[in-house]
This record gives sequence, structure tokens and C-alpha cells, in this order.
Amino acid sequence: MEINAGRMMVAGVLATALATSVAAAEKGGGEIGAASFDAQGRLLQPQGYREWVFLGAPLTPHGLNDGKAGFPEFHHVYINPDAHDIYQRSGRFPEGTVIAKELLLVQKGDYPDGSKNAPSGRGYFADRYNGMDVMVKDSRRFKQSNGWGFFNFGHDAPPYAEAASAAPASSCASCHAANAQKDMVFTQFYPILR
Ligand code: HEC
Repeated sequence: MEINAGRMMVAGVLATALATSVAAAEKGGGEIGAASFDAQGRLLQPQGYREWVFLGAPLTPHGLNDGKAGFPEFHHVYINPDAHDIYQRSGRFPEGTVIAKELLLVQKGDYPDGSKNAPSGRGYFADRYNGMDVMVKDSRRFKQSNGWGFFNFGHDAPPYAEAASAAPASSCASCHAANAQKDMVFTQFYPILR
């Protein structure tokens, strides 16, 4: 009896904590990975994103794109955990969602298509980090580009830019608007969001 009461209390406390964090997250995307802007409205480089929820790793190697892949080569895509939590419950990206896409080069290949042999088979294997793009959902701030701001922190090895201005709609948002499956995000490539 006593044990049950204890358990119920723990469950109650947990439920309250969860409700509070969801409410906080609903308001502004939550605490972890929340977007910060400087006085000029530039987005500050997100911190700790490699520990957020991992969405997937699309791969567009130079070897399959005449050496000119627009976004070389692996794209490691992460979403801030509070936004992911809400997405899983509601199927929508809350205000304050931050999605970071980090680019990684592939290891030097053994074949013209850039692939190489490994004990697991012939394929592509990640080498060093080489750039970062970020999307932030803020419907008021980024009304012109369907409610999302797009930021390029550099397509080179780290350190990435400390802050980035929102890119013009023509350089990022228009392609996402035309091709992404859900609210400007390419959910069709991330099984966890389907
Ligand atoms: C020509 C089309 C195109 C352009 C232009 C483009 N993207 Fe994307 N973007 C994609 C595709 C396709 C994906 C998903 C698959 C992949 O990464 O290869 C993607 C994925 C992303 C993601 C991960 C979330 C998602 O929707 O999958 C971010 C963040 C992102 N792009 C930011 C940017 C930024 C910032 C720019 C401008 C500097 C930009 N993109 C320009 C096509 C584009």
C-alpha cells in the first residue's frame, strides 16, 4: 500500500514535470537548443547540437554529382529535443524548432564514384566535419519565407561562423518550399518524422 502510494507520487511528480516542460516548449521551443539572436537579428551558432535528436544522414557525394555536390557530402541532421517531443505528439513543428544540418566529407575513395572498400562492404564513410546550415521556425520573424529562417554558418571545416544572417528566400527557402514534404522540412527523408 505504502509502496503504491509512493509510486503514484513519483508518477505524479513526473507527469507534472513533463507537462511543465511541454508547456515551456510550446511557448518558445523549450530550453535545450533554443535559438538566440543578436542585436542585428543574426542567429548565434547553436551549441551542443550533436547531442540533440538525430533525424538522419542523407548523402550526396561529389563522386555521384560530377564533383559538384551542392552540399557535400553526408548531412547529419539534428532537431532540438523539445521540438522533437512536441512533433511526436502533435505532428507539427512548434515555434522555436531548430534543425541543424552538419556537412561531413567522405573518406578518400578507391573508385571513380568516390566509394571505398571496408570490411562491411563497398560504400561511403564519413571523414571530417565541413559546414553547417540551420533552420529556425519563427512565424513572425520569418513571415516572408513560410515561417522559417535559413542560415548558412559556412561550408568549410570548423570553426563555423559565430553568427549568421538569415539567407534570402531565393537561396534556401524557395527550394524547401517547392520540394519538402511537411512545413518546409524534408520529412520524406527522415523515418523518425514520418
Ligand atoms: C536545391 C534545393 C535546396 C536548396 C537551395 C537548399 N536546400 Fe536545404 N535541403 C534540401 C534537401 C533536398 C534536403 C534534405 C536532403 C538532404 O539533406 O540532402 C535539405 C535539408 C536541409 C536541412 C535539414 C532539414 C530538412 O528540411 O531536411 C537544413 C537545416 C537545410 N536544408 C538548410 C538549408 C539552408 C540554410 C540553405 C541555404 C543556404 C538550403 N538548405 C538550401 C534542398 C535544398
